[in-house]
Amino acid sequence: MANATGTDEADRALKAGHRALWAEGDYPSVAAELIPDLGRILVEASGVGPGDRVLDVAAGTGNAAIPAALAGADVVAADLTPELLATGRRLAEERGAELRWQEADAEALPFDDAAFDAVLSCVGVMFAPHHRAAAGELVRVCRPGGTIALLSWTPEGFVGRMLGAMKPYAPPPPPGAQPPPLWGDPEHVEALLGDRITDVTAERRTVVVDRFATPEAFRDYFKQRYGPTIAVYRANADDPGRTAALDRDLADLARRHDRGTRAGTVVMEWEYLLFTARRAA
Ligand SMILES: C[S@@+](CC[C@H](N)C(=O)[O-])C[C@H]1O[C@@H](n2cnc3c(N)ncnc32)[C@H](O)[C@@H]1O
Repeated sequence: MANATGTDEADRALKAGHRALWAEGDYPSVAAELIPDLGRILVEASGVGPGDRVLDVAAGTGNAAIPAALAGADVVAADLTPELLATGRRLAEERGAELRWQEADAEALPFDDAAFDAVLSCVGVMFAPHHRAAAGELVRVCRPGGTIALLSWTPEGFVGRMLGAMKPYAPPPPPGAQPPPLWGDPEHVEALLGDRITDVTAERRTVVVDRFATPEAFRDYFKQRYGPTIAVYRANADDPGRTAALDRDLADLARRHDRGTRAGTVVMEWEYLLFTARRAA
């Protein structure tokens, strides 16, 4: 049977692959060690507070969902990958946050129309392959006048460039899939959401990442822990030449982004787009 994103069977297989990819490695440590403040920044930008019904789409381990719950909101953290939700549940307990965790595809959210006062996503919905379907769902589940707040890596920023550097080594994307960093381009997001939103704000910001002693240490960390990087290396496992070239490309990327301000430490600024809007009435 066909749906907006291809056949149901093909879409199920695609999403099963994505679920396995994000469960691999150790994404919880990447979120906790490299970008722990981004969820709180998104929650602050969204202005959510006590009693607001909030959905965090592609929530992972709750980088945004947990601070939203700690701010008093009534939160659902939804994600494709149950392994990440399980870690999030444990982290929330440790931090005294109460919220619901639900497995869900951002392109087919299992929630009623207008069910939430605010719909957030922190470097999350950008990884759903069919942008128009996902954007439609963000709007559908947000009440008229409610807030949509998204934090996404930009195409020109470090993570956008890293995904671009891995692309030539990856199998071709499935038909209809769009590149994640397009969500970091405000024109793309406005075109996706169209006249269904008002009061748009879009601001480019950076997060400083200074955890790695060398560019190679950065590369090896991602090679071991970040699902999309692990998958690309696996696709080239039988080709030592391509693996060595990918090794070089990723380390060189980090080298080029090193501000060079601290001896013995790679200091990088990773650019993201903070986008907020109101659902049109
Ligand atoms: C880079 S992680 C971000 C997680 C979290 N929001 C954070 O800030 O750490 C991307 C997340 O998108 C989720 N994801 C990917 N495709 C998805 C889809 N189609 N529907 C829902 N979640 C998806 C992954 O499981 C993963 O948790």
